[in-house]
Parts: sequence; C-alpha cells; structure tokens
Amino acid sequence: MKILVMGGTVFLGRAFVDEALRRGHELTLFNRGQSGVTPAGVEAVRGDREDEETLAALVEGRHWDWVVDTCGFEPRIVRRSVRALAGHVETYAFVSSFHAYADWPAKSVDESFPRHACAVDAAPEDVPYNALKAGCERVVEEGFPGHALIVNPGIIVGPGEPVGRLPWWLETVARGGRVLAPGSPDRVMQLVDARDIAAFLLDRLAEGDSGRYLTTGVAGNTTMGELLAACAEATGSDAAFVWADERFWQEHDVAPWTELPLWAPDLPEFAGTWTPSSAKALAAGMRCRPVAETVADTWRALRDGGYPPPKYLQGQLPVGLAQDKRDAVLAAWDARGPQG
Ligand SMILES: NC(=O)c1ccc[n+]([C@@H]2O[C@H](COP(=O)([O-])OP(=O)(O)OC[C@H]3O[C@@H](n4cnc5c(N)ncnc54)[C@H](OP(=O)(O)O)[C@@H]3O)[C@@H](O)[C@H]2O)c1
Repeated sequence: MKILVMGGTVFLGRAFVDEALRRGHELTLFNRGQSGVTPAGVEAVRGDREDEETLAALVEGRHWDWVVDTCGFEPRIVRRSVRALAGHVETYAFVSSFHAYADWPAKSVDESFPRHACAVDAAPEDVPYNALKAGCERVVEEGFPGHALIVNPGIIVGPGEPVGRLPWWLETVARGGRVLAPGSPDRVMQLVDARDIAAFLLDRLAEGDSGRYLTTGVAGNTTMGELLAACAEATGSDAAFVWADERFWQEHDVAPWTELPLWAPDLPEFAGTWTPSSAKALAAGMRCRPVAETVADTWRALRDGGYPPPKYLQGQLPVGLAQDKRDAVLAAWDARGPQG
C-alpha cells in the first residue's frame, strides 16, 4: 500500500515507518527535517504542516491509500491537512491519546467515555493538550466520515522514547546502590510499546477498519516493582530498592510524573491512571510484548546510540529527580525513625 506519514521520524512514527517498511509498504514521510531519522527506502518530503501552500504542493497529483498522522496537536492545524488530503487518501489514521477522554485519569475509561470539548480554533496557550487532542480527533472524524481510524495510546515506552520516562529509571537503576522507589512495589501499571501500537495500526488499516481504539496495553501488564526489577535485570545492576511511602514523597515536594517518572499518586483523582481498557483493541488482535522485553530493548537502544538521547538528557524536558534532591530525600527517609 502507499502510505503518507505526517511526521514519522522520532518515536511512535519511526516505529510505524520501520514496521511498514518491513511489511513491504511504499512510504512518503512529510516533516520539516528537523528531528529524528529518515530511513533509507522512503520518499522524504520536507515541509511544515502548518503551511497550507506546502500541503497543497504535497498532494498535487498524488494519491495514497492511507495517511498516518502522528504529530497532530492542534485542531486548527490538523484541519489543514484533513482538508488538503481529502480526495488524495482513502483513510486518515490519527494518533491521539488517552488524555482525550475527559474522565481520565480519575476513572477507568473505555471508548464509550466522553471526550473533552474543544473548539476547532482553540490554541495551546488557552486549552490543554488533553482537550486539543480530542479536538483533533473530531476534525479527522468530520473530514473523513467512515474512514477515520483513531488510536488513543496510554503511556508509550520502547526504544527511542524521547520523553525519557523509562530511560530515566534505567539510567538511575543502572548506577546501582540504594535506589529510592515510590509507594508500593505492588502498584499495578499498564504500559504499551510503541512497536505494538505501530503493528496494530497497520493491521487495522489493512482490514479497512475505522473508529476509535484505546491502545494502552494489557491491563496490569506490570507493577512498579516488576518494572524496576526488569530495569535492574536489563542493566545488570545491583540496585537495592528502598520503597518509601507516598506520603513521604509528597511531604518532600517530589512531583509525580516529572520528578518521579511513571509514578501517579494513590489518590482518587488518579484512580484510573493505569486502568483504561484496551479490551476492544485486544479483541481486534492487538498483541503486546512483555514489558520486560521492552525494558531490555530500550536499554539496548540507549547504549547503541541508534536514537537521539532522550529530551531530559538534552535539557529540553524536566524529567527525573536531581541527584542532590534524591540524596536528601534518601537521607531524610533513613532519618525518619521507626514510626516513619
Ligand atoms: N509518549 C506518550 O506516552 C504518548 C502517549 C499518548 C499519545 N502520544 C501521542 O503519540 C504521538 C507520538 O509522536 P512521536 O513523536 O512518536 O511521532 P513521530 O512521528 O515519530 O515524530 C514526530 C514527527 O513530527 C514531525 N513534525 C513535528 N512538527 C511538524 C510540523 N510542524 N510539520 C511537519 N512535521 C512536523 C517531526 O519532524 P520534524 O521535527 O523534522 O518536522 C517528526 O517527524 C503524539 O501524537 C502524542 O500525542 C504519546
């Protein structure tokens, strides 16, 4: 099949391109050429998706079976590509997020849950990412009725993860010694590998499918304890995990998600964080590899240098607890006394 990818060079898009090439598809990648890697064997078209003239030039005299849009973040901008591509592609696949569901992370959402409201002309200065993603979905659905395929991934991990959530834990655990860990090792999580979403998207497109799928992985496919143990195994580390209760972290102003990646506090407003339902996607054939395999492959990719370093290592994103704060929190934990 002929596939146009809006983006395609960093993480999920790159995983999609790799898998599509492996399956023998013919690919055109449209991006600015500023980030990531363009593999051999694809047609690269340079341009900014915000620019309508560039989009018009991209589609002139062209036709693709599918477009896969991995880099849509604003409805007004996604609408430009939806309009430009009408009549030039059969199916528009859009990578959204589980953030699009208004009740996430408080509730265990599925595809029947309401999405955030969002005006088509909403700007990121005024409207959060969550609502903008929902707005983008609607623009695609309206522009390609019956031919829009939307995926709502959960937390995506895997080789080349640019945010650096799992890479931060891997680097931290690899250093060994006593490693502070959040809450309980039994805290159930749900992670999904970018490569599994990519394969699922290609499977669904090949079936001529449309509609929406939550792609958040297999329910409870890991726990915080298993994840950190997998990090130790992958890195050959002697790390000894010191499980400090959540109240303690909060008392020391450690921020969930950013300073402690992949940690959502055990509070009612986060009750559904790790329990969105991927039942529909799994019933449709989505296959998810074991989290330990993802962890090992991510560590290998970090070492091989086949991907750009995660953004937090480049100082572009605040991910992970700084070493001095980590030492101070550990010292405070040791000094807290027998009653905690
Ligand atoms: N990470 C998570 O846990 C998570 C969870 C849920 C959903 N998601 C969603 O998953 C997707 C992940 O994206 P990814 O980074 O992995 O995708 P990707 O396709 O691998 O990389 C992003 C691409 O967008 C291109 N791009 C950015 N701005 C552009 C512009 N103005 N015009 C043309 N091309 C542009 C970049 O190239 P240039 O910079 O060279 O233009 C790059 O090729 C996102 O939609 C995100 O919302 C992520």
